[in-house]
Amino acid sequence: MVTSRFTNLIDLNDMPVSWWNEVVSLGAKIADAPEKYAHACDGKIMATLFYEPSTRTQMSFQTAMLRLGGTIIGFDNPATSSVAKGENLKDTTKIVSGYADIMVMRHTLEGSAKAAALTADCPIINAGDGGHLHPTQTLTDLLTLSKEKGRLENLTIGLCGDLKNGRTVHSLCKALSCYKGNKFILISTKELCLPFYIKDILNAHGCEFTEVDSIEEAISQLDILYMTRIQRERFTSDEEYQKQKDVYCLNHEKMLKGKSDLIVLHPLPRVDEIAMEVDDDPRALYFKQAKYGMYVRMAIILTVLKNEYPTELLTGSVQQGIKCSNKNCISNKEYYLPKSFRGKGDTLECEYCDERILVEH
Ligand code: NCD
Repeated sequence: MVTSRFTNLIDLNDMPVSWWNEVVSLGAKIADAPEKYAHACDGKIMATLFYEPSTRTQMSFQTAMLRLGGTIIGFDNPATSSVAKGENLKDTTKIVSGYADIMVMRHTLEGSAKAAALTADCPIINAGDGGHLHPTQTLTDLLTLSKEKGRLENLTIGLCGDLKNGRTVHSLCKALSCYKGNKFILISTKELCLPFYIKDILNAHGCEFTEVDSIEEAISQLDILYMTRIQRERFTSDEEYQKQKDVYCLNHEKMLKGKSDLIVLHPLPRVDEIAMEVDDDPRALYFKQAKYGMYVRMAIILTVLKNEYPTELLTGSVQQGIKCSNKNCISNKEYYLPKSFRGKGDTLECEYCDERILVEH
């Protein structure tokens, strides 16, 4: 077992549900009176390392730290850092973690935040690792639901779009499956359906879920419609992306079939999956959701810096001669990482990206 001496936010499910609830209720308190926290991080420095484009996540983290009285350093384009000279993830994050008190990282590869946490000298927050997870967006979504719906349980949630590659969807499903009575309607094409490992988590928590291929079939049953963009950058060919890109578009006509207390969320950016006409519908809450993201990130920074939950990073074991079959897994790019897997026998799970590997004998 490898345990960090810090509280790292890599995967929400590394923490007990009580921890998430505390962050969400602190986020709600901050949203009501942000000025009370204006000096809570005086003297602290946060680094933001963004290896992938971002508007909301990066800027909401930066403003969160500035509103807490702290300061920020970092890059949003690895081409302007030594990464462009070939520096590996370990060296960059090791060095920056010696300069900062807390580090927020977004990366193109799955499992990268965990990899960084193995050697970093400050807590790491995962701001999105490839198509894998996005825990701080999920805390944003939980705060939005608790403020706007008043509950996190007994909800019927429709998730629409790129359920295969959408890391916000993966983290949200994992989280909402831990609250009782939640049901999921998964709206996607067959090609972009939810990965098996997430469906297994829903099953393991006894959550009902159905898969459909149109918004019309689902919308009248929903408390929440969570729209997502088709993740162009995760496709192996542009031809495949072109086939998927215009399949879903939420418009006024479809909204007519939704309940009066339906809420429509979207982690943003939107491409064309929500028509602009929907923005004026009072049930469209995605802009408000983005603002909650700033408050919840203030709560995340404060809670992580308390350092009450040392994170277990590797709990499985290194399997001789076996490597992860996911080519976007960080363990296949950074050669020094221990290739560690959970489970035994024929099915192993990569500890960085959760990919399942069938071992052939
Ligand atoms: C999402 C992301 O980066 O995964 N955006 C965000 O952080 N709010 C969603 C997306 O890019 O589609």
